[in-house]
Amino acid sequence: MNKLLALSVGSISLIAGKLKIMGGINYFKKHEEIALNDKTILITGGTDGIGWETAKKLSKAKSIIIAGRNVERIKSELLNHKNIQFMYLDLNDLDNVQDFCQKFKKTQNKLDILINNAGIYNLEFKLTKQGFEQNFGVNYLSPFLLTYNLLDQITNEQESRIIFVASRAHTDSPRQVDFNLYLNQEPIPYPWHKIYAISKLANVYEASSFANYLKNTNIKVYTLHPGVVRTNMLNQFKFHSFLAPIVWYFTKTPEQGSVTSIFLATQPNQKLKNGYYYKDCIPKYLKEDNNLLFDNTIKLFKKFGYIK
Ligand SMILES: NC(=O)c1ccc[n+]([C@@H]2O[C@H](COP(=O)([O-])OP(=O)(O)OC[C@H]3O[C@@H](n4cnc5c(N)ncnc54)[C@H](OP(=O)(O)O)[C@@H]3O)[C@@H](O)[C@H]2O)c1
Repeated sequence: MNKLLALSVGSISLIAGKLKIMGGINYFKKHEEIALNDKTILITGGTDGIGWETAKKLSKAKSIIIAGRNVERIKSELLNHKNIQFMYLDLNDLDNVQDFCQKFKKTQNKLDILINNAGIYNLEFKLTKQGFEQNFGVNYLSPFLLTYNLLDQITNEQESRIIFVASRAHTDSPRQVDFNLYLNQEPIPYPWHKIYAISKLANVYEASSFANYLKNTNIKVYTLHPGVVRTNMLNQFKFHSFLAPIVWYFTKTPEQGSVTSIFLATQPNQKLKNGYYYKDCIPKYLKEDNNLLFDNTIKLFKKFGYIK
């Protein structure tokens, strides 16, 4: 009898734990949604993983633009989604980000929702085309330039918004991060497993700083952790097959990983907290650095001639 009880309690705990990892109650809950049928949405890194799931679930929108490099992965799927189109964007190259923004402005009338989703997690040290540490460049610098350049395209409407997909990993950053080392292209002294975390910390600061910068407009800004998700990013760790059940248990599917992005893209702005970091659709905190990184990034882009 005792064994049976222990087994039942154990099974219930395991199921409850898995449901929590999937996103808890908010994964199953139907949330209030804004009308999407007049919205234009841009999703970076929509060619795979969480981004593609996000695009599919937002496909009630008037128009969705997926920006990335590799359209081949979703080419056949695009035939079933006439309102989703692809535009080439390489976040490894700031010149390409500039070209993308110009093309976007020429071909699209407006933008209502910008989802900066694309990201990388490098297992070795690499540089971007312009010589910045690559996690920092692709995950932070390029999305910053893209967002800044498209600000005049984003409608100043009640439901306009910008979303930065960050990660819970930002909490694993070193206590004091000297972002100037990154901006000045100096050697990075942090261990490799902290490098991704630092780029995601930059995303969290980026969200609160853009929220602050746009405080006199209707445009709101949010950031989030999607969960630990079984996408290419996680699969590159090549876990031994005997770990597969454990990896499965502690991770989300890409569909589950898209839930907080969808939530932040579709909840009425007045129900959300501007500049906040969200996890499983719950606002966790507002993390600020007095706009230090934001101001220094603007200075950098001015110096490089990317912004006036
Ligand atoms: N998976 C996780 O466990 C996890 C956890 C926390 C946070 N996140 C965050 O979630 C976001 C999405 O990640 P994911 O898990 O869906 O990864 P993924 O499956 O590897 O997809 C990454 C996407 O980013 C795009 N991308 C990569 N490099 C790019 C570049 N240079 N230029 C333009 N696009 C580029 C890729 O498109 P192309 O190859 O077509 O360029 C792809 O669509 C990232 O910001 C990541 O940091 C993921």
